Amino acid sequence: MTSPTSGGGRPDRVVEGWQSLRDVLADAQRRLMAAGVPSPEVDASLMAAHVLGVPRGRLYLQDPMPNDQRMAFERLLSRRVARVPLQHLLGSAPFRTIELSVGPGVFVPRPETELVAGAAIDALRALPAADRIAVDLCTGSGAIAIALAAEVGGVSVTAVEVDPAAARWARTNAERYAEEVSVSGGSVRVIEADATRCAAPGGPLAELVGTAAVVVMNPPYVPDGAVVRDPEVREHDPARALYGGPDGLRVIRGAIDTAAVLLRAGGQVVIEHSDEQGDKAGELGVPGLLRVDSRWRDVVDHLDLARRPRFTTATRTA
Ligand SMILES: C[S@@+](CC[C@H](N)C(=O)[O-])C[C@H]1O[C@@H](n2cnc3c(N)ncnc32)[C@H](O)[C@@H]1O
Repeated sequence: MTSPTSGGGRPDRVVEGWQSLRDVLADAQRRLMAAGVPSPEVDASLMAAHVLGVPRGRLYLQDPMPNDQRMAFERLLSRRVARVPLQHLLGSAPFRTIELSVGPGVFVPRPETELVAGAAIDALRALPAADRIAVDLCTGSGAIAIALAAEVGGVSVTAVEVDPAAARWARTNAERYAEEVSVSGGSVRVIEADATRCAAPGGPLAELVGTAAVVVMNPPYVPDGAVVRDPEVREHDPARALYGGPDGLRVIRGAIDTAAVLLRAGGQVVIEHSDEQGDKAGELGVPGLLRVDSRWRDVVDHLDLARRPRFTTATRTA
């Protein structure tokens, strides 16, 4: 066995106990693909970057992969092959401009929700700073709430989450960004409460009744009987984050009532829904629910980047 770095130059061959990063990644991609992981190349390189402590774009500078890191990589890879979510393995998930700590007990924020947060951000930016009062119902990791406060100056966000474990993740994430948010005059507070009841008299959000400019939500919306295909979702996202009653709309209906109570006249609600709960779903869709309700006007359904119905916006009537 020869040293892979003899002479101080780059190794010119793989020797026992060492393996080039390129080979490690190629083997990992094959195993991830065989396990049905949808993005084997990205996942393999992100896990390698994680164990090597370098940005993904600088991975090939680390060639070959030292043994210790190769073992750490192998441990991550075998869990990913077993379909543990990549974000749980890395301990974090990107969301717009922020990075959120995630793990067991909390829903992993999704790229499509970035658009939902974007609609709330646009609505807040259009307002004078003093009016920037927002509520994120069903906050999970705090993704939407913290994104609003990180991207819009002076916004005061209340984030509501019913699940104690998820609320702990949200608090951890809010604390991580607290200083940055407070410098811009904003704040994020996490309240452990039921989004369908929190604005009732005596409830934890009663003081916000009629004051919010924006209420945004990504609630659970999968019908109880629906089969969730991806093991990462089915086995690792909490059931409470996914299932929304027999028609998927149980939490949404209650949270819409809460939004109507919290918003001031002219305030905006932004609601994420499944691609089957858009305009075509009629009364079983989110725009359908709002259109027959005199508390709302200017109901618009929006598509995601894959051109699928993804979220609804509406304005609170006077
Ligand atoms: C689909 S996840 C969305 C999490 C986060 N907003 C996001 O976009 O990543 C839904 C979240 O709503 C929470 N939840 C479910 N029912 C709720 C209720 N009645 N009140 C408050 N939160 C609820 C779940 O625990 C879960 O964290």
